[in-house]
Amino acid sequence: MIRIDVPATSANLGAGFDSLGIALTKYNRIWMEEDDCIDISSKDDTEIPTDENNLIYWSANYLYEFCGKKLPGLRIVQENNIPMARGLGSSSACIVAGLLGANRLIGSPLPKKELIDLAARIEGHPDNTSPAISGGLVVSALEANRVYSVTVPVADRFRFALMIPPFSLKTEKARAALPTEYSRQDVVYNLSRSGLMTASLFSGDLGNLRVAVQDKIHQPYRMSLIENCEQVFRISYELGSLGTYISGAGPTICAIIAAEDSENYLFHCKKHFAEKGINGWNIEIHSVDSNGAQISVD
Ligand code: HSE
Repeated sequence: MIRIDVPATSANLGAGFDSLGIALTKYNRIWMEEDDCIDISSKDDTEIPTDENNLIYWSANYLYEFCGKKLPGLRIVQENNIPMARGLGSSSACIVAGLLGANRLIGSPLPKKELIDLAARIEGHPDNTSPAISGGLVVSALEANRVYSVTVPVADRFRFALMIPPFSLKTEKARAALPTEYSRQDVVYNLSRSGLMTASLFSGDLGNLRVAVQDKIHQPYRMSLIENCEQVFRISYELGSLGTYISGAGPTICAIIAAEDSENYLFHCKKHFAEKGINGWNIEIHSVDSNGAQISVD
């Protein structure tokens, strides 16, 4: 069987709505081989669709059809470490695993660039799929169904603290909460901060991040969908977060912290959550994954 390891991704990074995303050192692992039927199972207790509606299978089938081939069936085994509907790119990880795995099974006819385009087409926006494939911080723009993207190296002094709540938030619901139009003032507000975030993560500038994570496009409208959101933001800043934002569509909240502060941050964050009765949240510290999805033969 081939094995595909796909990183979790944190999209938007505050102001970069639907365009910025970063790959993190947290992975889903998927084993795959051609079969004459559909045989899908999970190595953990995560409930997954086991028929043709499974997103990994669906994406693999999409790639076969795109390449003019018929998929006889697939055996898929999933190890799900990226929680679903938490703003950490779990659906993108499935799409990427299906596309990359299927491409390898038929002899790798499609280059990475084309896989990035297909993944964004399926997902609808490129900010999770591009870093899941390429790794690192990726700036992407969609133009006529094509993704124009650049992977930007991130200074090693940053870590990403994920505060993952025990409840889910569907992306459709989080997108439905957003206005359909914005003022020029709000657009300029976000454009400037999105650029500032990219340049600051690249250059290692700690002092800009608190401004760079602010936005007027999505976070103000999503805060109320996430229980304890404001309190979690407050705690993160009290503990020295350089910049805190809603990861993707939420509900995970991500704090960018200095590498040397990470152990201290983790310890005190857990303590504060317990003291404030914010229960059931997982708090994890991750680095940037700079490789993107990897395929190996098991
Ligand atoms: N950019 C997307 C959003 C990420 O914020 O809705 C979630 O898929």
